[in-house]
Amino acid sequence: ALAPSALPALAAAAPADTPSTAPAPHLFPKGFLWGSATASYQVEGAVKEDGRGVSIWDTFSHTPGKTNNGDTGDVANDHYHRYKEDVQLMKALGLKTYRFSVAWPRIFPNGTGAPNPKGIDFYSRLVDQLLANGIQPYCTLFHWDLPQALEDKGGWQSRDTSEAFAAYAGYVAQHLSDRVKHFMTLNEMKSFVDIGYRDGRHAPGLKLSVAKVNQVRHHAVLAHGLGVQAIRAHAKPGVKVGLAENAEACAPVIETAEHIAAARKATREENAGYLTAVLEGKYTDAYLAHHGANAPKFTAADMKAIGSPIDFVGLNNYTTTWVRADSAPAGYAVVPAPASYPHMMSPWLRVGPQGLYWGPKLIAEIWGVKEIYITENGASSTDVLTPDGHVYDTDRVMYLRNYLTQLHRGVSEGVPVKGYFCWSFMDNYEWADGYAYRFGIHYVDFKTQKRTPKLSAHFYKEVIARNGLA
Ligand code: NOJ
Repeated sequence: ALAPSALPALAAAAPADTPSTAPAPHLFPKGFLWGSATASYQVEGAVKEDGRGVSIWDTFSHTPGKTNNGDTGDVANDHYHRYKEDVQLMKALGLKTYRFSVAWPRIFPNGTGAPNPKGIDFYSRLVDQLLANGIQPYCTLFHWDLPQALEDKGGWQSRDTSEAFAAYAGYVAQHLSDRVKHFMTLNEMKSFVDIGYRDGRHAPGLKLSVAKVNQVRHHAVLAHGLGVQAIRAHAKPGVKVGLAENAEACAPVIETAEHIAAARKATREENAGYLTAVLEGKYTDAYLAHHGANAPKFTAADMKAIGSPIDFVGLNNYTTTWVRADSAPAGYAVVPAPASYPHMMSPWLRVGPQGLYWGPKLIAEIWGVKEIYITENGASSTDVLTPDGHVYDTDRVMYLRNYLTQLHRGVSEGVPVKGYFCWSFMDNYEWADGYAYRFGIHYVDFKTQKRTPKLSAHFYKEVIARNGLA
């Protein structure tokens, strides 16, 4: 192993910029926004503090058998109390931006009704801390911690939840938009709808019928649209609004014209219930035909709201959906992964760096999107803190380098990706997988709450300092 001195502390001086005379093929455009991300329930802890209401994740994680090792987010990273130190770590890394989420039950403990002033106060202090340290705040409004009081009234099965979300989003925008200039409505609609309401493996743990899941999905995209309108109505002028969706990143199995055309078709249809609906303000004919009698019930006004213009698209990307041309009417087929396909610690996290090239590229081309952020990208590893005090996560470094190489390929061709958020800033509560699945570039000892930069943090610091890859 390397001697401890081989990895200087993150507070050490940043390396000088690449001299302008040297060839610099892997640099990103000036001002590219390098960031990292977390989410409220995954890091905050303090679940009973300052008037926070109960969320569906409190209920779910406390239900025996629902999470790995029975882990809950009760304490998590104790970020609620340690946010100042965490912001200092962000500064040491050189982060230009930080993406966090607001816990709805801190703001409206019952989902609707009277706001809890202590709730917004926490985020206000966090934002001040970020800005004082030169870090731009990017704020997600819903990262899965739905107030339990709303779930008790039907949760996302009820369109009242979409309306309640809009009221909450408008309130947060009103209170933070003097300092926060970028808001994302919902995080990964596809995940919380499909895993939480169809598969039952995430909160609220339901296994609904196809028709009901389709209606839940409709209420999610409707919440996004109504949320966009509410943010615009209540935020200071100039605030930008988008979302953070894990759209399928469809890539051609071979880069020939016919497979590329197939990947383009797949991008539209594989995302039909989510991103496509948001960007087109309609469900595709194939989506409605496929679901037939199970299709969601909606009005023209709903679709207009869903298609409310947005300023940017945030893409969470971890894997690639490999697509080939096909003679079937759809014109494409998704190629299933063979058993030997490489993945990170999470079995679903199949390595496919090309998603970071083809995903944003095709989305920009199909819908004319002008501003894209990679709102999440990262990997779970079997990290071990060695006796010399380091975490040598060479697999995560390799993963990040390969994905960033593909991102650079797109950006250098003019794909309008303006920033990148590494998931995650630190190990945290990985939902039903608990604390065993580590995604951080900082290692967290959950007994002591000590944070240690992993090799990947040192790597990322270099990327940020030189604005690109070596
Ligand atoms: C997506 C989610 O937004 C985030 O909460 C989760 O931890 C990561 N992906 C990794 O699974």
